[in-house]
Amino acid sequence: MLAAGEGKRFRSARPKVLHELCGKPLLAYALEAAAPLRAERTVVIVGRGADDVAEAAGGLTRRPLEFALQARQLGTADAARMAGEALGRFDGDVLIIPADVPLLEVPTLRRLVARHRRARAAATVLTAVVADPTGYGRIVRDAAGLVSRIVEHGDATPAERAIPEVNSSVWVFDRAALRAALTKVGRGNRQREFYLTDVVEILRDKGETVEALAAAEATEILGVNSRSQLARAGALLRARINERWMAAGVTIVHPALTYIDAGVRIGRDTVVHPLTFLSGATRIGSGCEIGPAARLRDSVVAGGARVVFSVLDRARVGPGANVGPYAYLRPGARLDRGAKAGTFVEIKGSTVGRGSKVPHLSYVGDALIGPGVNVGAGTITCNYDGERKHRTVVGAGAFIGSDTMLVAPVKVGRGAYTGAGSAITRDVPAGALAVERAEQRNVRGWAARRAAKAQTGPGQGSGPRASNKSARGRTGGARRPAKKST
Ligand code: UD1
Ligand code: MG
Repeated sequence: MLAAGEGKRFRSARPKVLHELCGKPLLAYALEAAAPLRAERTVVIVGRGADDVAEAAGGLTRRPLEFALQARQLGTADAARMAGEALGRFDGDVLIIPADVPLLEVPTLRRLVARHRRARAAATVLTAVVADPTGYGRIVRDAAGLVSRIVEHGDATPAERAIPEVNSSVWVFDRAALRAALTKVGRGNRQREFYLTDVVEILRDKGETVEALAAAEATEILGVNSRSQLARAGALLRARINERWMAAGVTIVHPALTYIDAGVRIGRDTVVHPLTFLSGATRIGSGCEIGPAARLRDSVVAGGARVVFSVLDRARVGPGANVGPYAYLRPGARLDRGAKAGTFVEIKGSTVGRGSKVPHLSYVGDALIGPGVNVGAGTITCNYDGERKHRTVVGAGAFIGSDTMLVAPVKVGRGAYTGAGSAITRDVPAGALAVERAEQRNVRGWAARRAAKAQTGPGQGSGPRASNKSARGRTGGARRPAKKST
């Protein structure tokens, strides 16, 4: 696998092959396409960002990998030479896959290897006829229709540039033939690089067989060399992922506006509405309603749940639970069966028990809320004292009055109530009512007295602001009636 390239056209601080596509680095797609072929050995050529690329590759497959360092990026033939050194005395077929062709599919690779073996070829190259061949190497065929050489875009004549059949950079070689041919590759081209494509002409000159297999779908060989091509490949991969889920019984209302990462799983009869982003290891059960406008990352949603206009990050939503609109479930948020996190509710590191409801305008952090609890609008767990986080525990069936401040660490017992607007700083025993607020004072007749005062004029008032106004009032009497009406 060729993954050493500089990725110049990406203009990135990161190696190209580590840029992500539908939640996985580019490199992952090549590794996954190759894995089912069970190669005896897999050598990854690393160069640019070698350590990072090697580390990432190791974490992406269970198959054993070997790494070969290409210290200077002198071209694809030079990379193949490094692979050859790593292979040592290996004798057999060598499959070469570039790490920047993410749409490649397993059956195509199998067909390529089969074609190579049936033809007893020295080399077999995967090609495709594409609408826009710009940037690719062109497949030049002789009068008999056999591949005679490959010319890179930069070195091609106008006539050659008109050839729509291009090189995918996926190859099968006979090891001995490849090794011999590589010694003859020079760098007499526009880019001053050692081109693996030159091997074709070298082998043909020796009278060896060079085969070509055209991919059924031209998009399959799309090479990602720029951010623009990354976006194109992303769109194609997303379409493929969406098709797969629709075939598996998931309704996707508007596929072009639905963004599902490769690692996501969705149960049947779930409806995914537009502007939904499902990423990482997100798992959605069956019969759910997700979106519109939902962003779920590494989250688990059980069957029959609804998530509308909300953001979930490493959260768990139980069966039949309801999220949103406008909820934010942060890492460690967990809603049990039938629970609810409603409008403008943020939950972090907390469990909301079975059937419990947090319907409006709340922050719940580091809390354990039992089953059957109602958390009134505006309730806040005051979990942070500026240094440490503290826990709040609310027992089963408790009723938290609106705008309760639960100053953690604090416990509200089973079936207890808190009065609206209370700042609860001490534990509430089970079944008790806790009210913490100044007693209400009703000042009778106050409104009428206020109105009367306004009538006699602000000059009667006291305090700096009032006297200020009266001073202005004296000089500009015409303003007075206007003031009264406001
Ligand atoms: C290459 C082919 C071109 C083909 C296209 C298909 C050559 C000379 N050209 O061009 O015919 O149409 O792929 O996508 O082979 N790499 C290394 N070391 C290097 C240079 C490259 O490991 O010194 C790796 C890159 O990381 C990449 C792959 O080889 O994964 C292909 O290199 P890239 O620079 O993308 O070649 P293209 O210009 O795309
Ligand atoms: Mg490329």
